[in-house]
Amino acid sequence: METIRACVCEKLLQKADRLFTGTMNGRIIEILQNARRAGATEVRISNKDGLVSVQDNGKGIEDFQKLLDLGNSGWDEKLEAGEDPAGVGLFSLAPRKVTITSGDRQVVIEKDGWSGEPIEVVRANQGVNGTILAFADEGPWCFETVEKHAVFSGMKVFVDGQQCESVPFCSDNAVLYERPGCRIEVLDNISEHHRKWANGWHGDRVLVNFHGQVVQLDWWPAEKYRGLNILVDIADKTDIRLMLPARTRLVENAAFEKIKAAIEFEYYKYYQWQEKHALYYKEYLRAKELGIELPEAEPQFVPGLIWDEYDMPIEVTMPKGFELKDCYLCFNDELDDEQAETNAHLLSALGKFKDSPFVPVRIDNGYMGYNWSKLAKVTKVEVKTGKERLRHGICCEEIACFDNVSITVHVSDGRVFGSEVSMAVMALPQKGKYAWHTNLVCVTEKARCELTAENIWYHMGGFNDSGDGDAYDTQLYYFEKELDDFWNELIGPYETLRQQLIKELYQLHDKWQKITLTEDRTLEIVFKDGKTETVKPPK
Ligand SMILES: Nc1ncnc2c1ncn2[C@@H]1O[C@H](COP(=O)(O)OP(=O)(O)OP(=O)(O)O)[C@@H](O)[C@H]1O
Ligand SMILES: [Mg+2]
Repeated sequence: METIRACVCEKLLQKADRLFTGTMNGRIIEILQNARRAGATEVRISNKDGLVSVQDNGKGIEDFQKLLDLGNSGWDEKLEAGEDPAGVGLFSLAPRKVTITSGDRQVVIEKDGWSGEPIEVVRANQGVNGTILAFADEGPWCFETVEKHAVFSGMKVFVDGQQCESVPFCSDNAVLYERPGCRIEVLDNISEHHRKWANGWHGDRVLVNFHGQVVQLDWWPAEKYRGLNILVDIADKTDIRLMLPARTRLVENAAFEKIKAAIEFEYYKYYQWQEKHALYYKEYLRAKELGIELPEAEPQFVPGLIWDEYDMPIEVTMPKGFELKDCYLCFNDELDDEQAETNAHLLSALGKFKDSPFVPVRIDNGYMGYNWSKLAKVTKVEVKTGKERLRHGICCEEIACFDNVSITVHVSDGRVFGSEVSMAVMALPQKGKYAWHTNLVCVTEKARCELTAENIWYHMGGFNDSGDGDAYDTQLYYFEKELDDFWNELIGPYETLRQQLIKELYQLHDKWQKITLTEDRTLEIVFKDGKTETVKPPK
């Protein structure tokens, strides 16, 4: 019978220097890790004459052969069981020339030494307690970079005499999970040292401390990030493994699944401690499924139905003391009315109500399901207008002034709210098959004083921020000009002329009392102090 068997070819040794990504960060991680595994409490790094030397006060090297035994380690059994060393770390220094001294022995590994040539173990000129590695790296091992990797190692690490900070990865509040062997802490703030590792898009990364080495988990227990931080401190005894050779990710094994489950549980536990929260309804249900009873989320809502980032629409405010349960929801698609939300909003913002006011609110879909989100809904919105007085087209939309405009809203609890308003929006019937869908903005004369140009502009297309258009102020300026023409025509045929003439009088600084212009082009100015001036046109 023919059989096959996995084996390692010696040729792999020749490629050992390429098993690693070969970054300085990677080398710092490996060397600090070896010192910690050797039981060192102190590591002294110095940069001198182009050489980096790293001395630890660990137990020293018993068997020098183990240094270059690819795939084999010389650590004790307990450590082997927990940390699963791969016997490859030192090869991150290849193909550099490295001098390693421990006790009274020394080796110099270089060139072919990395790929199988015998290397002599010699007596060291000067014996050391622990181990010293000396090699030339791309540059010095600077304090900041080393500190980032040393801060959670539990060892005192010095770089050129300067001591790195050493802080516990988790606080005593972390919750211990015997299986798969870790402590988990959910907290709203982390130290600056932690933050150096939390460079996710929002910071929404679970940080895992694997015996002093921090890795990020590309996974979060909920859909939405809410500014929390999650720390996982791996215990000595663990089934958690790191991916080789880079060791920057966790292996997705059964222990990893257990960690995820534990994190999710602690995440919702955190909100139970907090007593109040703003979790989505789905998350609230998930917590319940995990056996964590949470109160309902704090009501999350915004008065009004329309908004934009430039604050153009008229604002709806919540009257003092008014309660959410007396507010209403409104959805265009449920009503098959494109303008329902707009007009319900405008009624609320501009209407006058004798009894209780009409207040529609927006609630993020994620919150639908909580009891407080179950509000009565708008069932119908009507706009009525009086006699039309003037209509203009501005850009692609139309604006018309009516004697009066009113909006009426029917709601599902049977009430009806209605009021005269200075503005409403109607969809114009489509002219022809391919015509653009346009709106008619219906205003009353009152809108001229009651509303800003931006309030009206918003309903007539508003700011075009596609990037290739004019700046906001420029676009608004052109709109205001057209809107002024509209209002002036409404006031009377010569209103624009009057305004233009007044504008030209600015040079008289309000000192004039009466200005007369006669048919022969003669100008007569009567000043406030009684003087008069007559200006005849030049011959
Ligand atoms: N600072 C040190 N003190 C004592 N022994 C060391 C030290 N550094 C390395 N060794 C010895 O050299 C061996 C090889 O180290 P290497 O970093 O290549 O592999 P490893 O640490 O066993 O596994 P890993 O691939 O996880 O790093 C170690 O198993 C250990 O026996
Ligand atoms: Mg190692």
